[in-house]
Amino acid sequence: IDNVSKDQSQLLKPVPILEINSQEDLQFLALKLQSAPITLIKNLTSTLEMDLSLFSSEKIAETAGATKIEIRLQNCMPIDVNIDNHGKTTWNCESVKKSTTIAKYAQYQAEIFQNSPKDEEETLRKVGSKCAQQMADDHGGKRKKTSENVEKKIKMNTIKFGTNVDLSNEIIWKEQIREIAKMPTFCQITHDENMLSHLDHTIFGMNTVQFYMKVPGSRTPAHQENNSIASININVGPGNCEWFGCAYEYWGVVEALCKKNCVNFLSGSWWPNMEELLEANVPVYQFTQKAGDMVWVDSGCVHWVQATGCCNNISWNVAPLNHTQLSIAIQSYEWNKLSEYRSLVPIQQLAWKLAKNVHFSSQEMYDLVRGVLIRSLSFSKIVYDFAVFSNKELIQRPREEKEGAHYCKPCQVEVFNILFVKKVKSEYLVHCVYCAKKGGLSNFVVLQQYLMSELAEIFDGMVLKPTLNNSLAQ
Ligand code: LMR
Repeated sequence: IDNVSKDQSQLLKPVPILEINSQEDLQFLALKLQSAPITLIKNLTSTLEMDLSLFSSEKIAETAGATKIEIRLQNCMPIDVNIDNHGKTTWNCESVKKSTTIAKYAQYQAEIFQNSPKDEEETLRKVGSKCAQQMADDHGGKRKKTSENVEKKIKMNTIKFGTNVDLSNEIIWKEQIREIAKMPTFCQITHDENMLSHLDHTIFGMNTVQFYMKVPGSRTPAHQENNSIASININVGPGNCEWFGCAYEYWGVVEALCKKNCVNFLSGSWWPNMEELLEANVPVYQFTQKAGDMVWVDSGCVHWVQATGCCNNISWNVAPLNHTQLSIAIQSYEWNKLSEYRSLVPIQQLAWKLAKNVHFSSQEMYDLVRGVLIRSLSFSKIVYDFAVFSNKELIQRPREEKEGAHYCKPCQVEVFNILFVKKVKSEYLVHCVYCAKKGGLSNFVVLQQYLMSELAEIFDGMVLKPTLNNSLAQ
């Protein structure tokens, strides 16, 4: 951007780039990735001989063309511009939900690809700030406001972004899933070192793969991943994506800027203004992800992405089994509770699974999990006693294998073990004890999924086996 002072330009960070040209280069890769908020990894997919053509629009449409997908209607703008339809800079990123099919989107994308001017990428990447200035000048920013031009709307080019295409079906997408299985173990969806794979239920887009179909200008608004879990994103090409990111440590500053700009950090759709971030001393990484490049988004990194060419991306989450990732995920879980925002990672359920499955070698990790369990167990007992005291019968209904986590319908908090359930029309709605109490308990049945003795046994059975290279194994 043009108007950056010397001090501010130091806040524009070069992204760490790792080149993986051989199996040896994979050594310690997982550890290296934890030292930066976001990392660009080159040549990994070609070194692993991954066939990315399996993720081309043609192949995906041939496999399941009739599948319905979500699309977003967005205004096409240069990467560092975000203006409303009066030409004013805004953080609000308009992204209207619609739907289509994979085949129809693939056709739309092919037409855009054929008709795109050769220099479109350059236009989107370079003229940004000048264009923003000009648009602002022309549309009420610097020009004196008159009753005519305040109301005047500018016409922007609208594009469609095909988003969150679900590749979880192991039968339909077996070739694609087999290709992803070529990734190093720490990137695998199912692996002991990935905490998400200790949950036996599906969390779409987190422990399953999602696919994105893009034309130039398609924007993924700024966000942290659900519960600040790390993520992997591969650009299948042929075009490029432009990425922006800032470290977890700055999420509070970014959240405050969101408030100031009237967008919701958790649930809103927003595109940060670079100058405002730099003014607030937030370091920002900006880089280009080309076809075949993988991006590692480390735990809690706030990031936003725009396609500058036609391309597809695949993405999923991995939660490295370490203290940093788990503690950040727990903090996000608590923040979400305060914001009545659903945590897609049910931390209580996860902690009970980890306690059962993992032999901890790190004291820190062991203590962290135990802390969650102590709070979860004591809260369960308090709710149990409250139900008994209120003359409610506790109906035993053990959790079934692969059963999803339960969330309170009104406040979105994870409801673990003791569920207050109310029938509304033909639906059974789960409530937490607080929301159930508000509505009068008489309409609720109370289900219990685990016996207290069962939970106490898991708690008492937790294993800590420190090893000599404890710090590496954390
Ligand atoms: C995308 O490719 O646009 C998204 O998946 C970005 C992300 O958050 O991984």
